[in-house]
Amino acid sequence: MTSKEIRSTFLEFFETRGHRIVPSAPIVVKNDPTLLFTNAGMNQFKDYFLGNRMPADKRVVDTQKCLRVSGKHNDLEEVGVDTYHHTMFEMLGNWSFGDYFKKEAIEWSWRLLTEVYRIDPDQIYVTVFEGDEKEGLPFDQEAYDEWLKWIDPERVLKGNKKDNFWEMGETGPCGPCSEIHVDCRSKEEREEFDGRNLVNEDHPQVIEIWNNVFMEFNRLKDGSLQELPQKHVDTGMGFERLVRVLQQKNSNYDTDVFSGTIEAIEKICDIGYQGGDSREDIAFRVLADHIRAVSFAIADGQLPSNTGAGYVIRRILRRAVRYYYSYLQSEYALLYRLVPLLSDQFKEVFPELDKQRDFVAKVIREEEETFLKTLEKGLKKIDEVIRHSKEKTIIDGQTAFELYDTFGFPIDLTRLIASEKGFSVDEGGFEREMQKQKERSRAATAIDTDDWVVLREGGRGEFVGYHDLLIETEVARYRKIKVKDKTKYQIVLSATPFYAESGGQVGDQGVLVFGEETIAVTDTKKENELIVHMVDKLPTDINSKLVAQVDMQKRLNTSYNHTATHLLHAALKEVLGDHVGQKGSFVSPDILRFDFSHFSKLSEEELVRINRLVNSKIRENILVETEEMPKEKALSLGATALFGEKYGDEVRVVMIDPAYSIELCGGTHVPQTGMIGVFTIVSESAVASGVRRIEALTGPAAFNYFTEKISQSKQIAELLKGSNPLKAIEDMINENHQLKKEVEKATLDKVKTLRDELAVSADDIGGINFIARKVDLDHADTVKKLAFSLKNSVDRLFLVLGADIQGKPHLSVMISDDLIKEKGFNASVIIRELAKEINGGGGGQPFFASAGGKNVEGLQRAIDKGRTLLVDS
Ligand code: SER
Repeated sequence: MTSKEIRSTFLEFFETRGHRIVPSAPIVVKNDPTLLFTNAGMNQFKDYFLGNRMPADKRVVDTQKCLRVSGKHNDLEEVGVDTYHHTMFEMLGNWSFGDYFKKEAIEWSWRLLTEVYRIDPDQIYVTVFEGDEKEGLPFDQEAYDEWLKWIDPERVLKGNKKDNFWEMGETGPCGPCSEIHVDCRSKEEREEFDGRNLVNEDHPQVIEIWNNVFMEFNRLKDGSLQELPQKHVDTGMGFERLVRVLQQKNSNYDTDVFSGTIEAIEKICDIGYQGGDSREDIAFRVLADHIRAVSFAIADGQLPSNTGAGYVIRRILRRAVRYYYSYLQSEYALLYRLVPLLSDQFKEVFPELDKQRDFVAKVIREEEETFLKTLEKGLKKIDEVIRHSKEKTIIDGQTAFELYDTFGFPIDLTRLIASEKGFSVDEGGFEREMQKQKERSRAATAIDTDDWVVLREGGRGEFVGYHDLLIETEVARYRKIKVKDKTKYQIVLSATPFYAESGGQVGDQGVLVFGEETIAVTDTKKENELIVHMVDKLPTDINSKLVAQVDMQKRLNTSYNHTATHLLHAALKEVLGDHVGQKGSFVSPDILRFDFSHFSKLSEEELVRINRLVNSKIRENILVETEEMPKEKALSLGATALFGEKYGDEVRVVMIDPAYSIELCGGTHVPQTGMIGVFTIVSESAVASGVRRIEALTGPAAFNYFTEKISQSKQIAELLKGSNPLKAIEDMINENHQLKKEVEKATLDKVKTLRDELAVSADDIGGINFIARKVDLDHADTVKKLAFSLKNSVDRLFLVLGADIQGKPHLSVMISDDLIKEKGFNASVIIRELAKEINGGGGGQPFFASAGGKNVEGLQRAIDKGRTLLVDS
């Protein structure tokens, strides 16, 4: 079977058993503070397990794009070195939300593997949870009994908590699990050495392919386990491993999931892949793996950047660049050339990449090129360190850390380069610096969250704020959090008018009024599906009824900006073309910011057209209609959906004249465009490769902006006394230019005259031409010019110049090169001595140094001291 057939067989097998096929969630996670990336198929279903949300279907099947490069599940360092770990991988999963349990899950996984995929039962081992005394968890007898219906007892192994109790993270849903391992060794090898002993031993041929998790608990912050309201099944099969087993290969990279990419790299680099352990082969695997993670993350909206998820993507990309640069002898960007191939390969299952292939390739190319330059700089830095260390042959920890932190050099690269030059790296010192940085970033971002205190089961904070901004409601749950050592609280209400930050629109602010007591809501955020209100304190009586009231003016201003954002998005497509796609959006009461894919700076003419178009749509006073409808219907109407956004089956559609703008959007809008009043673009800039940003104002903010601009122009006109302001300013600029030139020329003449005058005034002190003088110049630069000019015209020169520069004393010393060699003079030492007289300090080089100070009175003394120093030397 081809990998495509293997994937569809899985989906269909469960579809015929009552499961609904659902799409993969985006690889980049929003609305979950515990995760940056989807690291397991179950992430998108977390709220179903916890009982925070009811699923539409109790049985679901999918293939999920996962990334395990940060947090609890991190495989990055293994990737490429071995043949079966990946950064991005597909996880095939079947799910039961409070429906079937161990019996069906086990039977179906057995039947699929042995009857459909036809894996030899003699190659299969399964594990069950042995129990854990400390946790008070028993042996999983039920799973064990179910397995015995299918498989020889010899092949059922007991596993401990580490391998057989699956947890999503430090907290969250978890439960005992049963893994399925396949022994891919030859028959002879299997007969010779029992595979039982190789399970979970990191043997490259005896690998886990599928994990069946029986979700029964929620791990709380205090470490205890709380039983879930219902029992669920979460299974995850590593797609790339399954393909490898079925295609009978020794490595995931030899399957048709990766072979196309590997061949393309072979062609680009003109090196053959041998499939072994050499550095070249590892590099091939690193590239073939990393390009997937990077491409899909960008397609899902995560651009490489310097923080958070963006930084993780940047590091993965850099790891790949470093491998091809070091081991495949490629100094040119090449990853981006693999994007079209990946797009084609995954067109049917993950179309988001194909739809943005040029954009993704462009972003990757620019990142690669920038890092290749940095790599060169980093290599120079290492060279410098090596050249300057006279006796030591160690690269100190701080330098190694700087290379890592600033230049993106992983420690093994520094180690490698160092060893080539006979150097070693102070690893302990490096580790200490790393530790310090970790502590710094932990302190900067540390959020410590308590468990929820649930007052009303099932209260999920239903959002009623499209129509109501003030309602009577009650607290459903709350908890304490610590942000950078400050205690705050989060509150979930039974129903709420507060809009939680999402789709770029900021969270509402407002108040919760508990009887006499008013508590300010500083922000509203979503955590998975919960709407969380941020407050600085709790009310005295949290159980009392309360009135929740949104700050209406702020909400209104935000709505102007949100509707205007849709008008802008449509205008950009109309003026610039259909390639324009939303890459980021920020909608607040004060400003709107819209990032979009487009490859060049917008011309003034384009900006004017966009501004005009948006304003004409405002004046048309179009009705803004919102409607819930099935996603398919919305898409068939031509609605704009965003990549990297997770949509349910029912979507909310915002229409502003169906022929002009239809978008899937959960935000708040004005009922008619006329309410926006006016729209104006205030800036256009680049944010990343291929991504432009427009900032704009609407309504009262735009009005204030115009008022200020008009008043500014009036003031300018007044200053220019009635003349045509543009012409007057142009004349002034020209005149200024001319004057500058004249001043420069005058200064140069003055320097020349002074030089000629000083050159003939030199005293011969022991064969040295000594000149010392206080000169009448008002710029340090001019003094410097004079010094250099004298150096060129007087041999064996020892020069001390003093100047009063706008009330501040200034000294310079210039010494001819031959005197430096002959006498060992050093201008920067001498200047420090002289500067004492002017209460100052300075420095420079052996031939020229300068100093500033506080005491002008001391200038002459300093100049005289120059002579004494020379005479005494
Ligand atoms: N959640 C389990 C895992 O990620 C099974 O899907 O391994």
